[in-house]
Amino acid sequence: MQHVTLHNGVEMPILGFGVFQIPDADTQGAVEAALEAGYRSLDTAAAYQNEAAVGRAIAASGIARDELFVTTKLWIGGQGESAAREAFQLSLDALALDHLDLYLIHQPFGDYYGSWRAMQALLGEGLTRAIGVSNFYPDRLVDLILHSDIAPHVNQVETHPFFQRAADQAVMREHGVQIESWGPFAEGRNGLFTDPELLAIGAAHGKSVAQVVLRWLIQRGVVAIPKSVRLDRMAENLDVFNFALTDEDMSTIAAKDTGTSLFFDHRTAEAAMYLAGRHRG
Ligand SMILES: NC(=O)c1ccc[n+]([C@@H]2O[C@H](COP(=O)([O-])OP(=O)(O)OC[C@H]3O[C@@H](n4cnc5c(N)ncnc54)[C@H](OP(=O)(O)O)[C@@H]3O)[C@@H](O)[C@H]2O)c1
Repeated sequence: MQHVTLHNGVEMPILGFGVFQIPDADTQGAVEAALEAGYRSLDTAAAYQNEAAVGRAIAASGIARDELFVTTKLWIGGQGESAAREAFQLSLDALALDHLDLYLIHQPFGDYYGSWRAMQALLGEGLTRAIGVSNFYPDRLVDLILHSDIAPHVNQVETHPFFQRAADQAVMREHGVQIESWGPFAEGRNGLFTDPELLAIGAAHGKSVAQVVLRWLIQRGVVAIPKSVRLDRMAENLDVFNFALTDEDMSTIAAKDTGTSLFFDHRTAEAAMYLAGRHRG
């Protein structure tokens, strides 16, 4: 497994396993299978309502805690300096862990400046090894950095061949923030898995579209956390360290960028209203 080094020196696997939209009843089995397949980084969230199942899978695996990299996220309802600390403890208890590897502010809404102060304190107390944000566009990210003691270690944002975030990644790099992709396959939207050019690149390397996309992210230095409930796909998505895309492959994929979200734009009033009313991610 390849790693990236966060700006505080913490090493994070470049590839992990995401559990969004895995029903609670299926999550323990899926995470146990993912750990068995070789994943060591897990991405959950309070809003996914499956942290306890992730925790049971970790316990059942018997894998040493220091071999794992566990991320969870703070939902909008838990924003604010004291509320965030309480929400953190609830997540830690659900996961049955004594510390996290990465704690993220899930959405840039509500009192996230208060939450960030609490998270900086949690970091100082050793309760999490890194802290970060998610779904922050450059304006909100840089403003948070300018008005805080510690810059986020990670910003987890929608990143896939149809929304590549190259300019946003440059801003993050300038401030030492590691980009992490959510939805690396765009959840299959836009015909990603049957895209003729991605299929052709895959055929040239004896690889699937999923493997091409993950390899493209890795070669751009983007951390990825693909989700699958299928054992064959869990293994397939990990098998991306034995080939390299050519410059021509990278250019072909670069041309697919539409520059816009396939889900929704966090900078709109509608997104603020929609997410404030949701209790899940
Ligand atoms: N911070 C945020 O706001 C946010 C938002 C969304 C997601 N996330 C995180 O990012 C993770 C990944 O994103 P995502 O789950 O939304 O979507 P994704 O990883 O882009 O796509 C998952 C979909 O692709 C399918 N799939 C997986 N591997 C495949 C393969 N090798 N071949 C064909 N199909 C494959 C899965 O189906 P099967 O399961 O049936 O294989 C599932 O339908 C999430 O689980 C979550 O941890 C974060």
